[in-house]
Amino acid sequence: MSVLSNPSGSSSPTPSHLLYSSAVNRTAGGRVFNFNAGPSVLPEEVIRQIQDDVWDFAGTGFGILEHSHRAKPYDKLLAETFAVLREVGRVPADFEIVMMTGGSSSQNYIVPLNLLPAGRTADYIETDFWSVRSIEDGRQAGHSVHSAWSGKAHEYRRLPAQSELQFSANPAYVHITSNNTIYGTQMQTEPQIPSGAVLVCDGCSDILSKPIAWEKYGLIYASAQKNIGTTGVTVVFVRKDLLERAGPTVPRMLQYRNMVKEDSRPNTPPHFAIYTVKLMADWIKRNGGLDGMHARNIAKAKVVYDALDACPGFYSPHAARADRSLMNVCFRLPTVELEERFLAESVASGMDGMRGHRATGGMRASIYNAFPYEGCVLLAQFLVEFARRNG
Ligand SMILES: Cc1ncc(COP(=O)(O)O)c(C=O)c1O
Repeated sequence: MSVLSNPSGSSSPTPSHLLYSSAVNRTAGGRVFNFNAGPSVLPEEVIRQIQDDVWDFAGTGFGILEHSHRAKPYDKLLAETFAVLREVGRVPADFEIVMMTGGSSSQNYIVPLNLLPAGRTADYIETDFWSVRSIEDGRQAGHSVHSAWSGKAHEYRRLPAQSELQFSANPAYVHITSNNTIYGTQMQTEPQIPSGAVLVCDGCSDILSKPIAWEKYGLIYASAQKNIGTTGVTVVFVRKDLLERAGPTVPRMLQYRNMVKEDSRPNTPPHFAIYTVKLMADWIKRNGGLDGMHARNIAKAKVVYDALDACPGFYSPHAARADRSLMNVCFRLPTVELEERFLAESVASGMDGMRGHRATGGMRASIYNAFPYEGCVLLAQFLVEFARRNG
């Protein structure tokens, strides 16, 4: 049966010849499936809650957007946000959580400012556009950076084996990007790094989508707009012993130690975005926590990859099979003309946001935590049907 609403209003399943017509381009909730890579889909119940709270937050008589970040309701909200994030993320006691602005991109210079002592080198594993940015920004800020491996020659289709990593002599930290949003690869496990180094992770596009092996990490950062909220806030999980590494000249707004001391509000914080992080963490908790998210994300991605694999020669997934991402499914069609037709027809069928990044072209279906299973089923049906008609 179709997951789309039946425009005839009858209770019988939507006839298959209507499934992809523009007459039926909405879900039963009245929305289209949003495959955007970020900002991206939110759960319907979270959006409904936001609607209510924008009008009247916690019975205060005015909305969350209008609240002071120094007043009692925000004190409570912030404390609850930290608490639920810690609970659902199973964040150990030796980690602090801070909320910053500037997106994941700003962590490219904030991390070395805090964690890279003079005379030491930071190593980076270059697995896509964003990790290249990280290393470039570190270099531009005058830090000593080293590439332990680059996937450029492989068009970023695959991730490195442990034996391919070539670390510098004594790195202070090794930076990885756990999920590569643009190329659709995802690390299945963390690399082993030299003793004396800490592992730093750009977890922007898979944070809280599966359990985290905290004991392997020193720091994980993620801007919220994919898996854990709306744009405007970057959540940083940092091990407590690393807070002391920053010298006294690190500006207060960029200093993790100061952010902890000032409860992530040394100035006016992005309080609406932080509020959405709380709603998303609550939602993850209600939906099975990280184990629940992981199981659901595996099931969703399987439906889509199975459909792609069922049409070999027509669809070409970008990522090597062993490195496929559960979050971003990137693939090409035989010609650019077919890709344009695919995009137009997918929109008409109730699926938006699948145009791939300009670096790869083709299609990218982003199916983060909040993306519904039903949308993956619809996409799978569409993939097979489109290949049948155009292959
Ligand atoms: C893996 C990854 N890292 C970093 C970024 C940059 O994030 P921001 O736009 O918050 O700076 C993105 C954005 O999509 C991303 O996917």
